Amino acid sequence: DERGLLDQFGRVASDMRLSLTDKCNLRCSYCMPEAGLDWLKKDKLLTAAEIIRLVGLGVNRLGVRELRLTGGEPLVRADLVEIIAGLRKNHPELPISLTTNGVGLAKKAQALADAGLTRLNVSMDTLHHDAFLQLTRRPFLDQVLAGIEAAAAAGLRPLKINAVLLRGVNEGHAAELLQWSLDRGYELRFIEQMPLDADHGWTREGMITAAEIRELLSPDFELSPDPRARDGAPAERFEVRHHGSTALLGTVGIIASVTEPFCADCRRTRITAEGKVMSCLFSRTEVDLLALLRAGDSQQDDDAVTARWQDAMWAKPRAHGMGHPGLGDADFVQPDRSMS
Ligand code: GTP
Ligand code: 5AD
Ligand code: SF4
Repeated sequence: DERGLLDQFGRVASDMRLSLTDKCNLRCSYCMPEAGLDWLKKDKLLTAAEIIRLVGLGVNRLGVRELRLTGGEPLVRADLVEIIAGLRKNHPELPISLTTNGVGLAKKAQALADAGLTRLNVSMDTLHHDAFLQLTRRPFLDQVLAGIEAAAAAGLRPLKINAVLLRGVNEGHAAELLQWSLDRGYELRFIEQMPLDADHGWTREGMITAAEIRELLSPDFELSPDPRARDGAPAERFEVRHHGSTALLGTVGIIASVTEPFCADCRRTRITAEGKVMSCLFSRTEVDLLALLRAGDSQQDDDAVTARWQDAMWAKPRAHGMGHPGLGDADFVQPDRSMS
């Protein structure tokens, strides 16, 4: 279909993000409640075959050019390697990336690379065990570090590290985390905390903003805009140097979803682990594709799935409402669903 995943504001989604599970083995305070969520029953989740079919429809009919697998924590799915291998077989050229918390990654990195994964992003907010425990409520920092090392050794590059800074917890670790990433050739991105925590504890004052992040780094590093095109990516990239030096140390990204929103350039379509389209991360409407997928696999069934997917994306909201001209915090309603 030539229209692809077009919305009423003229954006076309070519970047597909698919959640493989709602489950997670960490309990990051900005995402999950301490007790976890009411996990979905297995028969409610997309199966490996359904995932492969859906991605096929996206790529072959709707203009999807890039795929990211997320969660929850995607590594908790026992059939992850099988899913990636199946996708790779059907789509030899498709960039397939994974966003993971790195727990258990050390054991799986090589198999993921062998199955055809292109690259991955690992979430790690601090290099300090006590702060890691406070942020994630689990003592798994060493596993994450081992996972990152194994992924890099398996050739899964460029490797990106995602860090959310929380006031009074790890904001003081920002420069150290950047130096650590630069030393190893990883691309660190700092992320503004978004109101997507299950406990609804987010406040604007509590959030460390992009401007503050630049301030936090400024004693140690000089940042200058990266000349490469941003290309619809959420992260704004900066080149990193020491003050008074011309030597390029690497790059750092800042993802300022709240204070510098990038909705106007958004190219994403999201599918939840239970097969629902979310046209936006902050969407409060979800459109089910699972029932249509399970109705059958004839040409007509495929037509019904793609048509509903297109309708869902056509209704994508213009913006999430925080910090946009003409749209204040009052226009923003936090979705029931948390980030995971
Ligand atoms: P790359 O392709 O490597 O740039 O990945 P990514 O940054 O798009 O994906 P990742 O899963 O690593 O997400 C990192 C952060 O980007 C998340 O924590 C969010 O803060 C932000 N993000 C991802 N997708 C969206 C989105 O659709 N809207 C907004 N506002 N933020 C997003
Ligand atoms: N705000 C910003 N980023 C978040 N993440 C999870 N919850 C939030 C939130 N409320 C991050 C994780 C991971 C990425 C997929 O999303 O740390 O890196
Ligand atoms: Fe798990 Fe990621 Fe949520 Fe942390 S942010 S609890 S790692 S899904």
